[in-house]
Amino acid sequence: MLEIKNITVLGSGIMGHGIAQVSAMSGYNVVLRDIEQKFLDKAMEKIKWSLDKLVSKEKISQSQAEQIYSRIKPVIDLKEAVKDCQLVIEAVPEIMDLKRKVYDELDKVASDDVIFASNTSTLPITEIANTTSRPNRVIGIHFFNPPQLMKLVEVIPGKQTSSEIVDKTVEFVRSVKKEPVLCKKDVPGFIVNRLFIPLVHEACYVMDRQKNQLTEIDSAVKFKLGFPMGIFELADFTGMDVIHKATVEMHQRDKKVINPHPKIEQLYNEKKMGQKSGEGFYKYSDDKYERIPLTEDLAQKCNPIQLVANILNNAAWLVTNKASDIQEIEKAAQLGLGLKKPLFETAKEYGISNIVKELEGLASKHGKFYEPDPLLVSMK
Ligand SMILES: NC(=O)c1ccc[n+]([C@@H]2O[C@H](COP(=O)([O-])OP(=O)(O)OC[C@H]3O[C@@H](n4cnc5c(N)ncnc54)[C@H](O)[C@@H]3O)[C@@H](O)[C@H]2O)c1
Repeated sequence: MLEIKNITVLGSGIMGHGIAQVSAMSGYNVVLRDIEQKFLDKAMEKIKWSLDKLVSKEKISQSQAEQIYSRIKPVIDLKEAVKDCQLVIEAVPEIMDLKRKVYDELDKVASDDVIFASNTSTLPITEIANTTSRPNRVIGIHFFNPPQLMKLVEVIPGKQTSSEIVDKTVEFVRSVKKEPVLCKKDVPGFIVNRLFIPLVHEACYVMDRQKNQLTEIDSAVKFKLGFPMGIFELADFTGMDVIHKATVEMHQRDKKVINPHPKIEQLYNEKKMGQKSGEGFYKYSDDKYERIPLTEDLAQKCNPIQLVANILNNAAWLVTNKASDIQEIEKAAQLGLGLKKPLFETAKEYGISNIVKELEGLASKHGKFYEPDPLLVSMK
């Protein structure tokens, strides 16, 4: 099995430049590839800024920063970019047709033993893999934003990915000092987005059905469910473009995973993308890191059992369908969503039989989407 020393990152945007930096910080030689010099210049500038910040915080020395920076080589020509690499991490925009085109070109110029790892958040790994002549060497490697800070990386084998490639990818993730969580099946949303994206929609239904204010729901999510912020706040932070795109992709592949609420599409169409555009569920001033004032008192005004039921039902689905297990889901929720309290502990606080009853009640009023997963029923 080949040893990974040289990595090529395709796409130098939000994710690509961060993945390149994280890899170079762990000693890998990195080629960063984009389609125009101006994108690469911007990415290299951002990497320099981030390394300078680490120097000023005394996390690394000036000479370490210089060595790390010098290990990243910006390149435009694809053939040159992949000529010596053992692993390609693809972080081009989340558009299937574009990814297909990129993998088609890549497959022709990369040697046969190179591993292709996609950073896609929502597209099927198996479909990406099938556009290449090496589906057994294609895998999902889902870093979270920003890769420099977020510890979690989901590793997702496609249908034909070999176990050797899975092991090699997990080993690589550990080598860049991240925590891998294996999503054993290529299911829509993998683990974290399968928990998170449907919850945003469900929170919109809570607003309609329980007539709660945004801040009441968000306070309950923060103070009763152990999220680091409210769910609407987190959606605004993530961006309505990302949430909308993930919704479409997930719902197209699996109607059971998500019950789309029209509010998301509405905000997206109105270009209310969240913090980055100044308005999403909430309105923001210029400060990117503005937080919504949430309180324990406001939390008392909202019973979030419908939200607990939704996230637990999706967690249980992952277990029932052998995509993950409870321990790995808790790790993913803690590191990917910042949950301070394990999901299944929250479930016990609310009572699994109450959650099942809630789901059965919702199913009888609003349809099959809410039917409780057999795992939850068996845990009553
Ligand atoms: N932004 C996030 O929060 C986030 C989080 C996790 C995963 N992802 C996933 O990571 C991937 C990249 O997302 P992003 O937010 O970094 O996008 P981005 O738009 O910031 O960056 C994409 C980069 O790819 C470049 N590009 C386009 N075509 C290319 C090609 N043929 N070869 C090389 N580069 C090319 C673009 O010029 C751009 O610089 C997507 O699949 C996305 O779903 C994004």
